[in-house]
Amino acid sequence: MVREWVKEKCHLEDRVKDLRKNYTQGELLESSLPESPFGLFHTWFTQASESEAIKEPNAMVLSTQDGDRVDSRIVLLKGLEDSSFLFYSNYESHKGKQLLANDHCTLLFPWVHLERQIIIRGRATKQTEEKSAKYFSSRPRASQLGAWASEQSDPINSREDLQKQLDEIGTKFMDSEVTKPLHWGGYVVHPYEIEFWQGRESRLHDRILYTKIGDSWQTQRLQP
Ligand SMILES: Cc1cc2nc3c(=O)[nH]c(=O)nc-3n(C[C@H](O)[C@H](O)[C@H](O)COP(=O)(O)O)c2cc1C
Repeated sequence: MVREWVKEKCHLEDRVKDLRKNYTQGELLESSLPESPFGLFHTWFTQASESEAIKEPNAMVLSTQDGDRVDSRIVLLKGLEDSSFLFYSNYESHKGKQLLANDHCTLLFPWVHLERQIIIRGRATKQTEEKSAKYFSSRPRASQLGAWASEQSDPINSREDLQKQLDEIGTKFMDSEVTKPLHWGGYVVHPYEIEFWQGRESRLHDRILYTKIGDSWQTQRLQP
């Protein structure tokens, strides 16, 4: 058994070691940079949305920190509000507790098929209750019930117990609209840095960092 595992491991290491790709799809030059990073974000997001290979262009990795612990997970971008990035979640989840302790966070769009990534550093605030409630009411009923039924990030004994929680919520709202739970809503990430990365040949990639200074944005090329 152990010998089999060691053999598999060696095989995997060989495979990983030999994975190598040259990036040749595009370039990012100062001459083509818009003043605002949101113009470039819009262009790249549109291209990601039109790419057959990228199934969920709005999937982004959210990283949060609390003390010595850093966590990452995928959430879905649901809007660009006044030059900030919006996603929805459970305020009492792990990420919710971390954002309460430290509102600094990072969002990362891993558009590997386009040989691109965008990294956004910013501070998160909660969306207004009114706006969250409006969005919640537009969600499918099953998702609304799910937001009530799941105490996101908490342990649970079994799948059956989760189903039981969902059934209880279903009974509670049997004859009525599902209202938004207080523990669920939007987070708006207000960026202060946005980095655009475009893969280039021979690992000499283009990296352009936009930094917010007052109301405007400064750009700086970074070494790859
Ligand atoms: C494709 C994809 C989309 C997801 N979208 C969301 C989302 O929009 N909001 C959310 O709270 N969790 C979303 N999740 C689940 C999170 O990655 C994560 O498991 C959950 O939010 C609990 O994270 P936490 O325990 O660190 O708080 C998504 C996961 C995947 C794989």
